[in-house]
Amino acid sequence: MTADLFDGFEDAGPAREPLAPGAALLRGFARRHETELITAIEAIAAQAPFRRMVTPGGHQMSVAMTSCGSFGWVTDRSGYRYDALDPDSGQPWPAMPPRFRELAERAAGEVGFAGFAPDACLINRYEPGAKMSLHQDRDERDIGAPIVSVSLGLPATFLFGGLKRADKTQRYRLAHGDVVVWGGPARLAFHGVAPLAVGEHALLGRQRINLTFRRAR
Ligand code: SIN
Ligand code: FE2
Repeated sequence: MTADLFDGFEDAGPAREPLAPGAALLRGFARRHETELITAIEAIAAQAPFRRMVTPGGHQMSVAMTSCGSFGWVTDRSGYRYDALDPDSGQPWPAMPPRFRELAERAAGEVGFAGFAPDACLINRYEPGAKMSLHQDRDERDIGAPIVSVSLGLPATFLFGGLKRADKTQRYRLAHGDVVVWGGPARLAFHGVAPLAVGEHALLGRQRINLTFRRAR
């Protein structure tokens, strides 16, 4: 067993909170990688800047987004989709750092989804007031693969519901370094993020950054 894998098990330890069958919150799982993650996110954003996209309905999202990996998620007036090219630059998205992939694979494995091989990592930036309405992640071709979400910076309230929009949602506080994994019977669970409260994070200042790893194609 490598030291790195061993570290992963230590990270999760007893701080695992089940959300539903197929879904769990791994508190602090990514925390030891904070510096590396933030440095890599800055490099990605220098190449593919955060932008607030427009939904097919014509609303500008409050969350600013970019992506890394073979595919990025984009939305505009024509719809939502995964695209191999950043529409702002016409260039491929920045590569997914191998350490991102390793972290996501390890987190998925902790929740029972061994062999997760993400090909897309969406990077969301929330400033105070930004939110994400209740939705399902269903633009991915392979819903056999889970979603792995890594939170950095200011804490947020994560809403996690059932397979129907009207199902009751539970609220979870996601803090810096927390990781949520949902897959299997929870893969199409409705989820969202309540408006971000004002605050100041020691490393990231007045923002929350969330990475979601997906198997898009
Ligand atoms: C998402 O649902 O894509 C983002 C979730 C989050 O920001 O925690
Ligand atoms: Fe989502």
